[in-house]
Amino acid sequence: MSIEKTVLADDLEICRILNGMWQVAGGHGQIETDSAIADMEKYQSGGFTTWDLADIYGPAESLIGEFKRKIGHEKFQALTKFVPNPGPMSNSIVTHYIEQSLQKMDTDCIDLLQFHWWDYNDTSYLDALNVLSKLQSENKIKHVGLTNFDTERVKIMKEQGYEIVSNQVQYSILDQRPDNLMASLFAKHGIKILSYGTLLGGFFSEKYLEVDEPHRGDLVTSSLQKYKNMIDVWGGWQLFQELLSALNEIAKKHNCSIANVATRFVLDKPQVAGVIIGARLGIAEHRDDNAKVFNVKLDQQDISLISSISAKANDLFEVIGDCGEEYR
Ligand SMILES: NC(=O)c1ccc[n+]([C@@H]2O[C@H](COP(=O)([O-])OP(=O)(O)OC[C@H]3O[C@@H](n4cnc5c(N)ncnc54)[C@H](OP(=O)(O)O)[C@@H]3O)[C@@H](O)[C@H]2O)c1
Repeated sequence: MSIEKTVLADDLEICRILNGMWQVAGGHGQIETDSAIADMEKYQSGGFTTWDLADIYGPAESLIGEFKRKIGHEKFQALTKFVPNPGPMSNSIVTHYIEQSLQKMDTDCIDLLQFHWWDYNDTSYLDALNVLSKLQSENKIKHVGLTNFDTERVKIMKEQGYEIVSNQVQYSILDQRPDNLMASLFAKHGIKILSYGTLLGGFFSEKYLEVDEPHRGDLVTSSLQKYKNMIDVWGGWQLFQELLSALNEIAKKHNCSIANVATRFVLDKPQVAGVIIGARLGIAEHRDDNAKVFNVKLDQQDISLISSISAKANDLFEVIGDCGEEYR
């Protein structure tokens, strides 16, 4: 089974399913380096060659460095993030952090550097972008992307002439906030979305179909805990079960899994370049199932059924705000 690819930017082709490395950062089970690297090789040979990581994801950048020494960089794409603490973003501070990532990842140039910012009241995010552009011109960064920025701030960046390839945001059947404002601005500027939370940490699967509402203590990963909060804000467990049952119906019709339906739904959104699916390296894997998504085609009847249930839920754009507001 081949993994669909897409051109994210010049000289950067990525898989439309990316392997998410937040799951190595703690809170998702004990990660052992050797078995993690062995698992990364299996992703690689299965065609899943694009990794999403961050400077704050524990050993993620170092694992990529070790993986590179093992198989060579030209064979995979590693998209990291720069998530600085608020404060001045001088040339020396930003350069220092990017140099650290380069060193850990054992590379001269980062494929995509996705920038996160916690506090819009502090406009030094624009200073940081300035330095990132300079580092790009020095070939230390191939492309600059963002994560969790809202539409308003991306608009400001575009008005100031910054080249932005992508924004990584939560996007799922449950959370379709990017449809409100972001997608149209991004279409205008050719900016792509990389989506996370598309499987709600695993809630979008047969495992949670027709089960009682889990207690907090039953949720064994930070990811499940995070998305259980989203389910609560969206409409609660009973409505979620209604949605899951509809997704199961759709999955059976297409001879695929609930996870495939949830992934396909987001992959079909026009601005979405790829869906990041968390990988608990050396602990659990769903490669064969996830690869099947490229043979699934949802029809209008499926979309209408999903919409009929979404219509009963709270509008997350109204409750939380635009993409990324949950971090602010
Ligand atoms: N920029 C940001 O702020 C941000 C925030 C969150 C995440 N992310 C990125 O997105 C990635 C995804 O993380 P996420 O927390 O959003 O998790 P997710 O991708 O929604 O869920 C991942 C979990 O789903 C389960 N799963 C995967 N494929 C499955 C399948 N085919 N069938 C059934 N279950 C399946 C697995 O659970 P088991 O392992 O238990 O089997 C896996 O650990 C992260 O690693 C990170 O790279 C970015």
